[in-house]
Amino acid sequence: MARVEQSELGMSPQEMRRLAARAAEILVERACGLGDAKAWDGEFRQILEAQLGGPPPELGRPAEEVLEQAARDVLPYAARLDHPRFFGFVPSSPTWPGVVADFLAAGFNINSCTWLVSSGTGQLELVVTDWIRGWIGYPESAGGLLTSGGSAASVEAMVTAREAAGHPEAPAVYMSDQSHSALKRAALIAGVRRDCIRLAPTGDDFRTDMHELARMVARDRDAGLQPLALCANAGTAGTGAIDPLPAMADFCERQGIWLHVDAAYGGFAAITDEGRASLDGIERADSVGLDAHKWFFQPYEAGALLVKDRRRLENAFAIGHDVLQDTVWGKNHPNFADRGQQLSRAARALKIWMSVQTFGMARFRAAVQNGLDLARRAGAHVEADPMLELMTPVSLGIVCFRVNPADRACDEDTLDEVNRRVLARVFWDDLAFFSSTSLKGVFSLRMCILNHSTGWDDVRRTLEMVSRFGKEALVRRP
Ligand SMILES: Cc1ncc(COP(=O)(O)O)c(C=O)c1O
Repeated sequence: MARVEQSELGMSPQEMRRLAARAAEILVERACGLGDAKAWDGEFRQILEAQLGGPPPELGRPAEEVLEQAARDVLPYAARLDHPRFFGFVPSSPTWPGVVADFLAAGFNINSCTWLVSSGTGQLELVVTDWIRGWIGYPESAGGLLTSGGSAASVEAMVTAREAAGHPEAPAVYMSDQSHSALKRAALIAGVRRDCIRLAPTGDDFRTDMHELARMVARDRDAGLQPLALCANAGTAGTGAIDPLPAMADFCERQGIWLHVDAAYGGFAAITDEGRASLDGIERADSVGLDAHKWFFQPYEAGALLVKDRRRLENAFAIGHDVLQDTVWGKNHPNFADRGQQLSRAARALKIWMSVQTFGMARFRAAVQNGLDLARRAGAHVEADPMLELMTPVSLGIVCFRVNPADRACDEDTLDEVNRRVLARVFWDDLAFFSSTSLKGVFSLRMCILNHSTGWDDVRRTLEMVSRFGKEALVRRP
């Protein structure tokens, strides 16, 4: 009998295989049926508590029964972020090799903390971060690590900036009024006072106003603050706007300020020619954060932080520990735990590596380009539909629009109400899911089109639904 069968928490090989095979079957069925399923499902707490609450059982029950319950009563109550018509927030659509990689890494029980503990996935993390380095045009001196996501990458970037600046006593960090909340949290965690996190205004194009930014920095210097870092957006989550990266790089060089680019969702557009051109200047940043669980088709969690001078990252995070003294194999064998905040770390590189090895970059490029093309086409459709109004130029897969009939003058309050009603109907309709944003106080519908399996028909049907709901909402208004 295998050792694993004898353990209190062990299973026979037959049971293990049966359980894994059933899990795989459920997942494949789900993936193949996604297009016909609802794009979103959820339930209120009272109902879920009745189904799932209760103390831990003293005695267990058959694993397959537990698996079926999870697949029936837990997992479906979620946004289907990989549904071809899920356009809300920033969706993700993982490739199957990526999903299998996470299962393998869990099964092999990999802790990608140090070279000694997992050299195979350590090597892959070097390979994958080097691919990303190349895609964003960073020099060989750059390096980084894979993180849980953009939020963790932002924290690690801010801490690196702080340490590189010699831990100033009164640091100030700059970003725009469109920047992601993750950056504000990162600055706070890095020790920046809340009132020293400066939000520069943006223009009508939602890009940082460089004149205002320069004035803010000058004022802060006069007041005795130490400008530490500027966070640029390479795809704001709201509109996809890309900040003037070359101008920001010039400014930061002149001022001696760390430039961090938050490219969490937009960064992987760099693998296409069109995206790379849009992100021109990203290669001049001191650090860049990107999320492979967004536009690089990986399961959560797959963020990345790249730092142009890798030594700065290591200087910020490497801390010796007696109990880990055997893991120090020298510079040529990096311990990724010394490049960030986590010691125990998932083997995130495996999923990226397996997916890219399986499909090849040509297909990844085509998948990213699909999002860029569909979003552009969606923008043209909105402009041609007399019921709809395009609110901002389409950028990096994001389309902001609203119901605003050309043949009927509506005041802003009416438009606001009508669009909120339309969105509420979309939420409870099975066809598609998208979300909204506020564009300098104006309510806007927003579609983010990044899924590799989305086709034009999915986008067209969704926009036609909005038009229809819009007409109906207007008719019902007195
Ligand atoms: C622009 C941007 N920055 C940062 C984040 C935070 O990333 P994560 O959710 O991976 O922590 C997001 C998430 O959507 C984002 O869109």
